[in-house]
Amino acid sequence: MLAVVGSRVYAEAQTVKPRMERNSLMMTRRQALRNTALASAACATVFANRTARAQPKAATASATTTATIVNGPFILPPLPYPFDALEPHIDARTMEIHHDKHHAAYVANLNKAIAEFPELGKKSVEDLLKDLNTLPEKVRIAVRNQGGGHYNHSLFWQMMKKDGGGQPSGGMATAIDRGFGSYSAFRDKFTEAATRVFGSGWAWLLLDGHDLKIEPGPNQDAPLSQGKQPLLGIDVWEHAYYLKYQNRRPEYIAAWFNVIAWDFVADRYSKLSAL
Ligand SMILES: [Fe+2]
Repeated sequence: MLAVVGSRVYAEAQTVKPRMERNSLMMTRRQALRNTALASAACATVFANRTARAQPKAATASATTTATIVNGPFILPPLPYPFDALEPHIDARTMEIHHDKHHAAYVANLNKAIAEFPELGKKSVEDLLKDLNTLPEKVRIAVRNQGGGHYNHSLFWQMMKKDGGGQPSGGMATAIDRGFGSYSAFRDKFTEAATRVFGSGWAWLLLDGHDLKIEPGPNQDAPLSQGKQPLLGIDVWEHAYYLKYQNRRPEYIAAWFNVIAWDFVADRYSKLSAL
């Protein structure tokens, strides 16, 4: 098995690319079988670690893209769609780099960070993030950043889909109307929050208790760490849009509304609001 460890992920990915590609092909069926969380995209739990994903459910190999094999308990989930699925709004090259390099690095660095603490690898990334203060001080910041990056991106891929966009319906629409007055008002407020994020971060639609809120999130801070459940989020790190949009973040944000997977968001809301 190809071992890609810690921060060496980039270098090894380059030097052993042919072998990695062969392994990727060989792993396709197994990855597909493991890909439980992507198949049940509305599940409130993001892929946690290898142990948590050991029980396979149906998933189609065609729904997967490449995934990086990491020597540790946390693994990079494949995208639930091809790299070019979100064209023209988000370009294929950006999606490939974003997933295969950036998300892969968060996973690899999370594994590296907790290597000395095998008990942490038995927990889900959600549990790690929910209770950062209980973690060994030595790994607390790394879990906040790298674990947050892994968790946020695992959700982010599912919050988008080919031919997405439009407006929510049903209970999600009602909740948005109740929380913000209208979908249009929600969109304006969310856009403003995403535009105003200083530097790198996210804008989130959150479930805080039973209330919907829109809040910015710096760096890779996960809303879970503040006791809030993310329903929808946009990554406004430059790596999410720079190739296509350069410094025009507002254009990226406007285009991103065309790929929102409202069915996924609504299902999360339905399940999380019932807890
Ligand atoms: Fe990102």
